Amino acid sequence: MPVLRTVKDYIRTIVDFPHEGILFRDVTTLFADPRGFRMAIDQMLHPYAGEQIDKVVGLEARGFILGGAIAHQLSLGFVPIRKKGKLPGAVISEDYQLEYGEAIVEIHDDAIQPGEKILLVDDLLATGGTAQAGIRLIERLGGEIMGCAFIVDLPELGGRQKLEAMGMDVHVLCEYEGA
Ligand code: PRP
Ligand code: MG
Repeated sequence: MPVLRTVKDYIRTIVDFPHEGILFRDVTTLFADPRGFRMAIDQMLHPYAGEQIDKVVGLEARGFILGGAIAHQLSLGFVPIRKKGKLPGAVISEDYQLEYGEAIVEIHDDAIQPGEKILLVDDLLATGGTAQAGIRLIERLGGEIMGCAFIVDLPELGGRQKLEAMGMDVHVLCEYEGA
């Protein structure tokens, strides 16, 4: 693969996935490229380097790949937020709206101590429902969220505004109009 200039250059768009009319922003091509993946991790953590952060929290599923790499780079621990029924210990849960229906995410109830400073990570911000549920879980455990970092924002779906209205610092690497 040639050397490309920006993170967006490494993201592939799949037409009509998962259903007709959707342009799916596929970050697997970014993850698969050694320069692309390094650039994405470096840019995601850039605003937070040197800040006091205690843990990185990643949202299932692609937030695990990004969050793991960011936590390692910052020498921090990593905490997963998973879809319902996947975590083995005692959990707290939050539900959120999907395009059709509802989903539930969970975190271990001892994964964050009150007052810990958290960086929340996922691949993509659309309506913001998933991230909002993650924020609620972290805040219920007493975590203080220092930032929410994503590769892609789809501004027309309003997720960023939703998170900023909750007082969040939102950091995205690129945007796509016409979500
Ligand atoms: C996608 C994406 C984000 C979420 C964003 O995940 O990876 O997590 O949707 O959408 P929202 O801002 O409208 O909530 P998806 O729910 O498809 O699950 P996956 O990451 O497990 O594939
Ligand atoms: Mg996801």
